[in-house]
Amino acid sequence: MPTLAVVGAQWGDEGKGKIVDYLAQEAHVVVRFQGGNNAGHSVKVGEELFKLHHLPSGILRSSKTAVIANGVVIDPGVLLEEVDGLRKRGKSVKNLRISERAHVIMPYHKLLDAAEEGMREGAKVGTTGRGIGPAYADKAARLGIRMGELVDQDLLEERLSFLVPLKNKMLQALGSDSRIDEKKVLDEYSEYGRRLKVHVTDTGGLLSDAIAKKRRVLFEGAQGTMLDIDHGTYPFVTSSNTVSGNAATGSGIPATAIDDIFGVTKAYTTRVGEGPFPTELFGELSTCIAEKGGEFGTTTGRNRRCGWLDLVVLRHAHALNGFTGLALTKIDILGGFDELKVCTHYTLDGRKTTRFPADLRRLKRCEPKYQVLEGWNDIEPKRMSKVLREGFSTLPSNMRKYIRFVERETGVRVVLLGLGRRRSETLDLRKRRW
Ligand code: IMP
Repeated sequence: MPTLAVVGAQWGDEGKGKIVDYLAQEAHVVVRFQGGNNAGHSVKVGEELFKLHHLPSGILRSSKTAVIANGVVIDPGVLLEEVDGLRKRGKSVKNLRISERAHVIMPYHKLLDAAEEGMREGAKVGTTGRGIGPAYADKAARLGIRMGELVDQDLLEERLSFLVPLKNKMLQALGSDSRIDEKKVLDEYSEYGRRLKVHVTDTGGLLSDAIAKKRRVLFEGAQGTMLDIDHGTYPFVTSSNTVSGNAATGSGIPATAIDDIFGVTKAYTTRVGEGPFPTELFGELSTCIAEKGGEFGTTTGRNRRCGWLDLVVLRHAHALNGFTGLALTKIDILGGFDELKVCTHYTLDGRKTTRFPADLRRLKRCEPKYQVLEGWNDIEPKRMSKVLREGFSTLPSNMRKYIRFVERETGVRVVLLGLGRRRSETLDLRKRRW
């Protein structure tokens, strides 16, 4: 693994945090390259649970350099809370590096996020309300504030003097009663800048140097392919490119510098927020998966919608990301079912389709078609240690069939298998014999 990007293959929440944390053992540098604190990664280390929103999962391993790169949007108050929280629990953050090019989420972004959602009657995106969309919109509109400006009080003051009146006008136009107080924001944000300054640097340069020295760099994606601003279920998407190509743009390194790309997919599917979800389940089956899988969002606590694994989605994700391996997570949650369904294709107006349509009206007319596979019993805790020690051949035989079916249908090998919440409950199949 000289350089490896790990990205979500579904609608986010695939368990990337745990996979990245596992792979971070081998890395020198771990990099977040897109998204913001809309992401939420839970990582269990021993009995301790860490919930991260801004910080790369690699921060939990103190010898690594953790980078928040240019493609990320940062809420500095939230980032500092996370930093303080880790420090209190005895974790060091001295190896944190933040790009001077990363954009800052300002208080008006959060207010605008809420106000815009309020305007979208009947077509809400179901955002996390963290100001992500408005922050990326300002970046594209050349109205953003970058970390390099946040840490320079004069520059910050200059930017705020024209941005605050503009944003207050926008809030008024959107019917919001909230207004921004320029002085208050300047005081609060220059204090954030003062505290974060030691971490802010040219992370693109740092990464180029690291790659030139053949250091192992791990790029950690947030959200998932189906939430990609270009390739996901637009407009029910996030505001950044979540696909592997953005590991390069979002970090300031060339695309040719990425050697491997792992896609993380649950053994079933979940989605939070609004938007289409062809294999969604309702009723008892959905509740059963949600409860067993603990399918409640790390960021907003919202219930996740649950459904069967969708291979049309996975193939779409592979076509976009170019996976060199799949991390199949939470397969343990599917234990105990007599049979399991996997969607192999859709029918659209009576015709078979294996492509994921861009047009949501066409997608709505798609009917998922399933292959039924036999289930397996939960792996007893006693047996789990044997499985983790001895590997693939000791897995329940129907689970192995399920894994091989996914591999055959997608053309990608399963390289990591998630069998439980703990760091240790990841089965590494990279050296599996075939
Ligand atoms: P935003 O990113 O807050 O603008 O939200 C846009 C859409 O992306 C909503 O449907 C969110 O629920 C979804 N979303 C954003 N971040 C995550 C994530 O980390 N996991 C799952 N869904 C997410």
